[in-house]
Amino acid sequence: VSRPDRGEEQREQEWEREKGRALHRSFLDVRPLDRITSIRTKFAFVIIIAVGVSALVSQIGLTLGIDVLLRPPIAMLISLLLVRMLARGMTSPLREMEAAAAKMARGDYTQRVEVTSRDEVGRLAMEFNAMAAELDEVDRMRRDLVANVSHELRTPISALQAHLENIVDGVEAADPEVLRTMLAQTERLGRMVSQLLDLSRLESGGSPLHNQRFEVGPLLEQAAIESRLHRPGIDVRVAVEPRDLWVDGDPERVHQVVANLLENAARYSPAGEAIDVSGRVRGDRVVIEVCDHGPGIPLNESSRVFERFYRADSARATERGGAGLGLAIARWIVDLHGGDIRAEQRAPNGCRMVIELPA
Ligand SMILES: Nc1ncnc2c1ncn2[C@@H]1O[C@H](COP(=O)(O)OP(=O)(O)OP(=O)(O)O)[C@@H](O)[C@H]1O
Ligand SMILES: [Mg+2]
Repeated sequence: VSRPDRGEEQREQEWEREKGRALHRSFLDVRPLDRITSIRTKFAFVIIIAVGVSALVSQIGLTLGIDVLLRPPIAMLISLLLVRMLARGMTSPLREMEAAAAKMARGDYTQRVEVTSRDEVGRLAMEFNAMAAELDEVDRMRRDLVANVSHELRTPISALQAHLENIVDGVEAADPEVLRTMLAQTERLGRMVSQLLDLSRLESGGSPLHNQRFEVGPLLEQAAIESRLHRPGIDVRVAVEPRDLWVDGDPERVHQVVANLLENAARYSPAGEAIDVSGRVRGDRVVIEVCDHGPGIPLNESSRVFERFYRADSARATERGGAGLGLAIARWIVDLHGGDIRAEQRAPNGCRMVIELPA
């Protein structure tokens, strides 16, 4: 999963949010040093105040005729109180972070630290919160993944088990028709497992790209031929402009992406409608498109379909097979190439899958 870039802008937003929260605090809780962005300056400030207060108390004590032995403790006490008030919140985030980190080590990722200052500690606390949020998200994704995988595996396994039980009990004969259904189920299981393995290898960097310069036209033609073999009667048209279009990348992986897109196009577009595959140059990028005349992908789902196990219309998808992994794999491969993949709507209906690769 590509992570959003948290730049200055987000930090600024977080700071604004914190400022809003700060407004609601009581006036007793003012933190005059929060605006200073460096701890060193804060320390300097605090020392100057302390020394100033001591000098002032000394002077006042002298005019009031207070005992010379009493003046330093009084000055110290007043300075301490003042400094305590001024430096409020300077180290509390550190203590909060310590407690939160301990909880995180035990698997509780919901902890956040209150940020009020803009100094190093404040920035650290902000980064800490961002890290906690990210860990929380990763943890949620991990749990979702396990739940999804188990759910997806359960359906074909239960079906297989039911058939086998019937055969063992003698309720059903092991005729070729039943065996063929069972074979289809095992094939589906096998396909899903190998897709998952592929995805995890891509994510962990376990299958690096074998980059080379290759010609786009023949690759698209080959993918089209395979898709026609797979689904006889399907009409796939390939158009490449210019005819000798070359690109840098891993041809096998790019082929895998195009094959995935063609499989979807063939699955979701009505029989008899043509599927258009095209390749062309736009600026410093090579654009490959796969267009169909199916129902298309609604705008609000066009980024979600690239998530693992996501199916735009689960009922329709389940009945026709896929587990919702094809596009997740495609996006990983395109990301590894430094490219971009997106789903667009076509007028009046249909889906246009656009891959952009750096030329
Ligand atoms: N060409 C298309 N037209 C309409 N919907 C599509 C198209 N391509 C993808 N989708 C939607 O996006 C979802 C995700 O696609 P993806 O290829 O990841 O999964 P899948 O095809 O269902 O399963 P798999 O590819 O793992 O066999 C699909 O379930 C479908 O709802
Ligand atoms: Mg698919």
